[in-house]
Amino acid sequence: MKRTVSILAGGLLCGVLSTAALADDGRELVIDGETIATTAVAADDHPLDEIISGWRFRSAETQALQMDDFENPAFVAIEYAEEIWETPAGTSNKSCADCHGDADSFAGLRTKLPRWNDEMGKPATMEMLINASIETHQGAEPWKWESAEMLAMTAMIGLESRGMPVALETDGPMADWIKKGEELYYTRVGLLNMACANCHEDNYGNMIRADHLSQGQINGFPVYRLKWGGLGSIHRRFKGCMDQVRAEPYKRGSDEFIALEAYVASRGMGLSVETPSVRN
Ligand code: HEC
Ligand code: HEC
Repeated sequence: MKRTVSILAGGLLCGVLSTAALADDGRELVIDGETIATTAVAADDHPLDEIISGWRFRSAETQALQMDDFENPAFVAIEYAEEIWETPAGTSNKSCADCHGDADSFAGLRTKLPRWNDEMGKPATMEMLINASIETHQGAEPWKWESAEMLAMTAMIGLESRGMPVALETDGPMADWIKKGEELYYTRVGLLNMACANCHEDNYGNMIRADHLSQGQINGFPVYRLKWGGLGSIHRRFKGCMDQVRAEPYKRGSDEFIALEAYVASRGMGLSVETPSVRN
């Protein structure tokens, strides 16, 4: 039975996959006069020959939206985050700004996440760090993973690392989580019986229906997706990809998605943070 499904899935995929030129059109990501590298050199033992940002696989129109902060629709949310940043809340009656000063105190943070956290006993994502601070320091109600507040704030803090290379810690207690994420990445799931790697490693550069397949990197998150009409988290994208292969997706914030995030981040080490990126 499993075999049949697998052949069927292979057939389905053959029907929708077609080759296209890899995104080597020579366009460069330049924002505010600064060039942001969209490729990185892969170490010898890296599963990919070259590490390439998702930006390179998008159409010229979508790329252009990300190149201009006035055109980039994610900046509406970032303005919202700037308001939240200054607004006192919770039992402390303090704002983020009262304790953290300027948001640029978080420069570099995005590059290191997920990062091992002793108190949580697991790697912490940006969402988890923000909520831990809201609960323990500000004394307010934590935000939902995919709430407007959380998406805006993760975009605003991530922006402070734009242009810096992804450089998370992969040793120590992170190693087990990255290993677990790697297993998930290569495990075929769902009715189409496909793993992340079947699309984002074996077929990047090819067309799947009308979409140009990328390496599925996460250096631009949260992303503004034109299809969503708003920002979305890394875990929302993972869930969407699992839905596509008709698998039962894990929950946002689950250990599975944290492990997968850690592993996918480790595959993109050296790529520049592009938060907030724009996708179709
Ligand atoms: C009452 C003071 C206080 C308030 C209010 C507060 N924080 Fe914090 N926050 C801290 C302290 C203390 C830490 C732990 C030390 C550190 O990493 O800066 C922290 C840690 C963090 C971290 C993790 C930083 C890191 O490098 O690990 C983030 C992200 C964060 N806060 C975001 C926020 C946001 C966003 C708000 C507003 C919604 C906020 N905090 C409100 C005191 C506060
Ligand atoms: C059937 C093929 C397929 C599978 C399997 C798949 N994806 Fe995707 N994924 C896509 C398509 C299509 C897109 C949108 C175009 C692109 O960026 O590749 C996408 C986009 C993404 C993106 C956004 C990249 C960016 O630059 O914005 C991430 C991250 C991602 N996928 C991760 C995953 C992970 C993790 C898995 C495994 C749980 C997975 N995908 C499984 C097809 C797939």
